[in-house]
Amino acid sequence: MRYARVLLCAGMAFWGGCATEPEPSAPPEQPGRQDTVAAVRRVVATAEQCQPCHPQHYEEWRISMHAYAFEDPVFHALNALMLQQRPIDEQFCVRCHTPFGSLFGETLPGVAKERVSPVARQGISCDVCHMMALPHPTGRGVWRFRLDGARSGNVADPIPNTFHPSAFEPLLSQSEACAPCHDVVNPLGVLVERTYTEWRESPYPGRGITCQVCHMPWTAEPIVPGGPVRRRHSHLMPGVDVPLSDFPGREQMEEAVEYLLQNALRMLVAVPSELSAQEPLRVRVTLANNITGHDIPTGSIFTRQMWIELIVRETTTGRVLYESGTLDSHGDLRTLHSLDVQQGRVPLDTALVIFNGTALRNGRPAFFWEAHAVQFNTIPAFDSRTAVYTVPAPPGGWPAALEVSVRLRFRALPPYLLRAIGLEELVERLPIFDMEQEQRRIAVRR
Ligand code: HEC
Ligand code: HEC
Ligand code: HEC
Ligand code: HEC
Ligand code: HEC
Repeated sequence: MRYARVLLCAGMAFWGGCATEPEPSAPPEQPGRQDTVAAVRRVVATAEQCQPCHPQHYEEWRISMHAYAFEDPVFHALNALMLQQRPIDEQFCVRCHTPFGSLFGETLPGVAKERVSPVARQGISCDVCHMMALPHPTGRGVWRFRLDGARSGNVADPIPNTFHPSAFEPLLSQSEACAPCHDVVNPLGVLVERTYTEWRESPYPGRGITCQVCHMPWTAEPIVPGGPVRRRHSHLMPGVDVPLSDFPGREQMEEAVEYLLQNALRMLVAVPSELSAQEPLRVRVTLANNITGHDIPTGSIFTRQMWIELIVRETTTGRVLYESGTLDSHGDLRTLHSLDVQQGRVPLDTALVIFNGTALRNGRPAFFWEAHAVQFNTIPAFDSRTAVYTVPAPPGGWPAALEVSVRLRFRALPPYLLRAIGLEELVERLPIFDMEQEQRRIAVRR
């Protein structure tokens, strides 16, 4: 640990020395830790053991990204990349992506996912959330669990069952139940992903609107077959990711994500209704985040791409007169990462408007696990961003009528990233969601 701290201060000198020395992200050793681990191991169960009594919860969770967290080939490729760099905290990624695997010491570097126990393989399994000790520290994963075998929930008067004791835990219905993982503090102590913090600093907590209100809508029905009617909360929890590898329920998840994203913000497009033949065309696109409880995008913003596609066509022929936010022949945006741009086959998209984030180390782009700082290019809750395009008239002037089409598009990650980590075969499975779209006609005065 001492060695790690020295390294850390050397790295931090650039950012003003070690005046505020960050806390290490590794959980502190607890007294009697071995006993504790053994006690957790004795009571923990797989999702299949809950299925007979909670079949609907199981069906939703089974296709959720929580169940996919330790299946995801993108996760394993990036985790392997981090381990190659001999990190100060080898358990950094797995403490969130498979808390039980990490706690039970099954996720040592080089261990294949097929070799871990069934409950560790299940990533964020039922018992991660329902046995987690609350309150729990924020942004460092989950490693503390209740040892009495009880499953915590929101039911104050649960009927007894033969499998587990039940415990009423009001904190599970609060955003603090998501905060251990939906803020990410990297091994250098830098808050690199901050969904929970964004939410906490927004007006939503004051209005009582928690993560669960938006991401776990409920219906009035029994939570066990034949039981009394309760609030049964959905466990599908769509965001923007869908499984890229073979995994149950991909289509259903894709539909749920599409619905969420089409109800995430408002887009306003302003164009003139008339234009003279030589005049530049001005297009203003305003994106207002008045629906989402945190920034858009949020979380793993280093891989996310939310961008504006603007195409101006001649109405009669459909001929494209201007485009920004369109893709190259490999499905990439026309940035410096595009192979076509690098080979001079298509022009660089200098007008591109994209929302995402960049992790920085010594001022240069880096992986989030080694970053000193993050540049956020996202839209906070109840805030908006306006993009202004000025398109010069083509030589000889505009044709008689123009059609302007604007789309706001979103995908979880770019094809060039999948190529870089050796997962090129997954590119064709990567969906692009159209969040908003609008078309306008413009008459040209002669
Ligand atoms: C033998 C059947 C059975 C099995 C197996 C079972 N449960 Fe339950 N569970 C119940 C019953 C019955 C209730 C109470 C239902 C009620 O009061 O409406 C319950 C309640 C709960 C609650 C709410 C507790 C509260 O007080 O708010 C949670 C959470 C829960 N179970 C999680 C799980 C998890 C996770 C598993 C698997 C590890 C599991 N259950 C396995 C029968 C079962
Ligand atoms: C007011 C409703 C609302 C609240 C409250 C809310 N969310 Fe969201 N969340 C959304 C919407 C809409 C999206 C889709 C737009 C987006 O990607 O940001 C989303 C997306 C997400 C995503 C995927 C985002 C990405 O870009 O990768 C995660 C993860 C997430 N939410 C977690 C949380 C957590 C954790 C909380 C609580 C701290 C929370 N949300 C609170 C509405 C909400
Ligand atoms: C990512 C965390 C998470 C995972 C994973 C998870 N749950 Fe839950 N579960 C919750 C939260 C949070 C609530 C309470 C929601 C609220 O009160 O707003 C809940 C509520 C429940 C309840 C009480 C009834 C209800 O619907 O509110 C049961 C039963 C339950 N979950 C069972 C399960 C089972 C079974 C699994 C696995 C198949 C599972 N949960 C996986 C977070 C989780
Ligand atoms: C133990 C850590 C952990 C806890 C606790 C947790 N999550 Fe997650 N959650 C994750 C991880 C890891 C993923 C991403 C898995 C993947 O894509 O490989 C995820 C994914 C999600 C997504 C989908 C994001 C996307 O881009 O598709 C949503 C929405 C979400 N969680 C909401 C919640 C909410 C709401 C809670 C609290 C009730 C919660 N989570 C609690 C770790 C956690
Ligand atoms: C403190 C908890 C935490 C830690 C540590 C963590 N993650 Fe995650 N990870 C999450 C959550 C939460 C999400 C979902 C967030 C979202 O969708 O915005 C996620 C999503 C992901 C995804 C899917 C999103 C995507 O890019 O499409 C990948 C891949 C991933 N993490 C890899 C890693 C790797 C590799 C590490 C270690 C270098 C790591 N994570 C460390 C919590 C964590």
